[in-house]
Amino acid sequence: MKFLENVSLAEYTTFKIGGKAKYFCVVKNEEELYEALDFAKGKNTESLIMPFFILGGGSNILVSDDGFDGLVVKMEMTGVSFEDGEKSDNKTDVGKILVTAQAGDNWDRLVAETVKKELWGLENLSGIPGTVGAAPVQDIGAYGAEAKDTIVSVRAIDSTTGAARTFTNSECQFSYRESFFKTAEGKKYIITSVTFKLSKIPSPNLSYKDLKEYFSENGREERDSLSSRPPSLSEIRKAVIEIRKGKFPELSKVGTAGSFWKNPIISNQQFEKLKIRYPNTPSFSFGDKIKIPLAWILDNVCGLKGYTKGPVSLWTNQPLVVVAEKGTSFKEIESLTCEVTNIVKQKTGIDIEKEVQYIA
Ligand code: EPU
Repeated sequence: MKFLENVSLAEYTTFKIGGKAKYFCVVKNEEELYEALDFAKGKNTESLIMPFFILGGGSNILVSDDGFDGLVVKMEMTGVSFEDGEKSDNKTDVGKILVTAQAGDNWDRLVAETVKKELWGLENLSGIPGTVGAAPVQDIGAYGAEAKDTIVSVRAIDSTTGAARTFTNSECQFSYRESFFKTAEGKKYIITSVTFKLSKIPSPNLSYKDLKEYFSENGREERDSLSSRPPSLSEIRKAVIEIRKGKFPELSKVGTAGSFWKNPIISNQQFEKLKIRYPNTPSFSFGDKIKIPLAWILDNVCGLKGYTKGPVSLWTNQPLVVVAEKGTSFKEIESLTCEVTNIVKQKTGIDIEKEVQYIA
């Protein structure tokens, strides 16, 4: 196994920005992962002496111009297996299939494969860039579905002891774009595979506004004249991919990491105050709090849709998405995103949080 030095990380991220990794390796199985951990430990057997970072598809990170002073481990373990849930004694498992994918598998390839096999559960998460191992870390979500809805367990290796552990869904402590794996304690675990429980029984989830509109407007005639048949799995996948195309830039053309910020979650009290100033603010209930679409605030309150500063802009079709031209520096991204964060605070009183992870 090769440990390379001074590897440019820009080409391994969808933002296409950032400096070099001091050390870099690719792991294709657990043995290689242990080899990488030994390398990071050096002669020290107690704990890791070198910081390490597990790189998946690089689609939700922003690497600093100075790069990463440690070991970057590119996760390339792949392989998907299927297990019939009906074999188990559990009556609720009838019609369910357990699907286990390795951390380095491409997320959308997994979704495509499950759709092809007529398994329900991941179709609304079509078209999301990145790897399977990254999905539980930030509990990826889109169009009314989240990874946590189907994840039954996550296998991970403790980087300090080398011990493997299987986390149940509740042990993963999932919440909006958060999980145990983002906490200080959780960061020592390296995810190696994820098991999902999918269903052979059709269960279309068309609650999200964009999907509802898609199927009421154009999908219906396309499907059949009776117009009562619910959409099939592949029709839902096609719809999600088409909707995403209209909102997100093409990764081959510009640098981006998708939504740069999380949608803010505020108290009822804060929302009531906001509504006095901006009565049309859309909202979604989120437990005992309120979730606000930041794209709406950026567009309608701040007038920042399409806002450009040098090579960095807020994407015209979806201002939550920050895009950068080739050759942009981390500092230039920071300059625009800090300004936007301050404007939102001034206009609404809301502190917005980054969704993209910084690697420095
Ligand atoms: N809107 C505007 N102006 C615009 C665009 C949107 O006012 O130019 C308003 C509309 O009211 C729209 C609302 O903003 O209904 C919300 O927009 P959208 O439905 O496109 O989704 P979002 O809340 O901005 C979230 C996720 C996306 C995910 C979409 C679709 C976060 C941070 N982002 O975006 O996930 O694809 O929903 O479900 O939760 C990601 O996490 O990286 C990501 C791309």
